[in-house]
Amino acid sequence: MLDFSDHEAVRNIQQISQQQGIDLRGGKVRRTSSRFCLGVEHGDYNGTELFGVGTDRFIWMGYTAGTPGRMRLFSGNFPREGVVEFDLGITPPPRSPRIADNWARFPLGVDYILRKAGFDLRLGMDAVIYGNIPGGGMSRSASLTLNLILSLLDVNNIEIEDKFEIVDLAQAVENEYIGSPCGQLDQIMILFAREGVGTHYDPRHRTIQYVPLGKDADFRLVSLDTGTVRPGLEKSTYKIRRAECEEFVALLQKERDINFLGDIKDQREFEQIMAQYQENHPDLCSRFKYIFYAQQRFYHMLEAWKNGEIKTVGEIFRQDGHGLRDDYQISGPELETMCDIARTVGGVYGERMLGGGDKGAAGALVAPHAVSALEEAVNQAYPRSYRLLQDRYAVHACRMVEGVKVLEGKL
Ligand code: GLA
Repeated sequence: MLDFSDHEAVRNIQQISQQQGIDLRGGKVRRTSSRFCLGVEHGDYNGTELFGVGTDRFIWMGYTAGTPGRMRLFSGNFPREGVVEFDLGITPPPRSPRIADNWARFPLGVDYILRKAGFDLRLGMDAVIYGNIPGGGMSRSASLTLNLILSLLDVNNIEIEDKFEIVDLAQAVENEYIGSPCGQLDQIMILFAREGVGTHYDPRHRTIQYVPLGKDADFRLVSLDTGTVRPGLEKSTYKIRRAECEEFVALLQKERDINFLGDIKDQREFEQIMAQYQENHPDLCSRFKYIFYAQQRFYHMLEAWKNGEIKTVGEIFRQDGHGLRDDYQISGPELETMCDIARTVGGVYGERMLGGGDKGAAGALVAPHAVSALEEAVNQAYPRSYRLLQDRYAVHACRMVEGVKVLEGKL
């Protein structure tokens, strides 16, 4: 089981900085978390409320102000891409094919979007990045983007008070520059995350409420990384699902005043719509069905969370998983194998695919005493299903942590 502490990460960064000749002495380390969404998965672009927590798999970035106007960054996760260097303000146009597969698109996009938003960036930064967030499911890209934005602003002494402005900027980096059609779930759940509590986001009022887990409840969030790599959302089923939801909204708007599928919460109205469109638009109806019931379950989940009824939270998580698999059809074979294994283990309250879909990580809500049994079951069964992934899958038992933390005096 992987378990990285800040200490190890900082040591790693120092080692890399020496190897690469990137002098970080006197700099800071910013740590941004991953996230676990407890609902409504795929609800952000469907207008539903959201609930999630920050989890302790991170991106750590050691950084310091570098040569004015120049960026020099190295990622310990993509060593073959070497040092990424560019002058601030000189970035390839958005969605350039030549950077489509390089991680450099993130710092380039951050420079592009911050500049476009009118920020006066004079100082570039020297930085070394190291992370242990699985690719797919736990918001690695949002964590990296937020880290880069906050650090580059910090180097330039710019403070943004409204956190939602930062959320918007981070989404714009992905939507506009990279071309990923992501919503705002990831950015919100990371940027606002606090240790030990859940974050409840209401899109209608754009407000955040922190919801402590009910008394005496204890559990672990276990990420089941399948060892597969999910290409960006722009290259995956996610893009198709988003388009389908928008197509259905456009159809329904002919007779209704709605902006999102999530605006429909009434059971009778749901049934009318299903009866009317099922024959000619069965796929769109399936997508809607998932959103409708997941949204109903969301409020039960929230109550259960407040009351510390973690078994109920887990059961709902599992039901959401069935909906994502069967109705929303956004899961993938490796993710479902992980879920099928997890379901056999006593003490696993619920499991499902996480995040964008297709590949990446599944997740489970687990009684603390059952974590090792789950790990054992995965170690037994998963490599038998996917021999080629036997050295790449991983089980991470996570805690709920704050989303952003700056470690000073470590470099
Ligand atoms: C990805 C996207 C998010 C959200 C989730 C699914 O993580 O980046 O905006 O849509 O998928 O809930």
